[in-house]
Amino acid sequence: MVKNWQQRLQAARLLTQGGDPSRAPPIFRRYGCTGCHQIPGIAGADGQVGGALSGLQTRVYIAGVVNNTGDNLVHWIVSPQTFSPNSAMPKTGISEAEARDLAAYLYIH
Ligand code: HEC
Repeated sequence: MVKNWQQRLQAARLLTQGGDPSRAPPIFRRYGCTGCHQIPGIAGADGQVGGALSGLQTRVYIAGVVNNTGDNLVHWIVSPQTFSPNSAMPKTGISEAEARDLAAYLYIH
């Protein structure tokens, strides 16, 4: 069964322990995610340094190094080097709560 928007939103919130995708757009800008990544639905997010952040809900791995779970996605966003010491993605100083909002957004886009 194809999930409707409400079901997908609920699943994204569960996966990210309460992440709220509606708060995500300004957070993506504040921490410079938009300068390095293309992000669906975010105006001006056309960076080419990292890959496009689309279809996260169907990925098996995050950055090819860690299983794609809500917790791992949140922790990747906070601290990529925890999983991948040589990663070119910097630690941006984003909080875990903000990263939960971004992860929830990425799981529904
Ligand atoms: C300076 C550029 C830069 C910034 C800023 C940046 N990233 Fe990245 N990001 C990268 C690169 C490069 C990779 C690929 C890393 C790797 O494979 O080690 C990556 C990988 C990722 C991945 C894994 C993607 C995949 O295809 O598996 C996610 C998710 C991600 N970034 C989210 C974010 C978010 C959210 C922000 C803002 C908080 C952000 N990034 C900020 C450069 C950046």
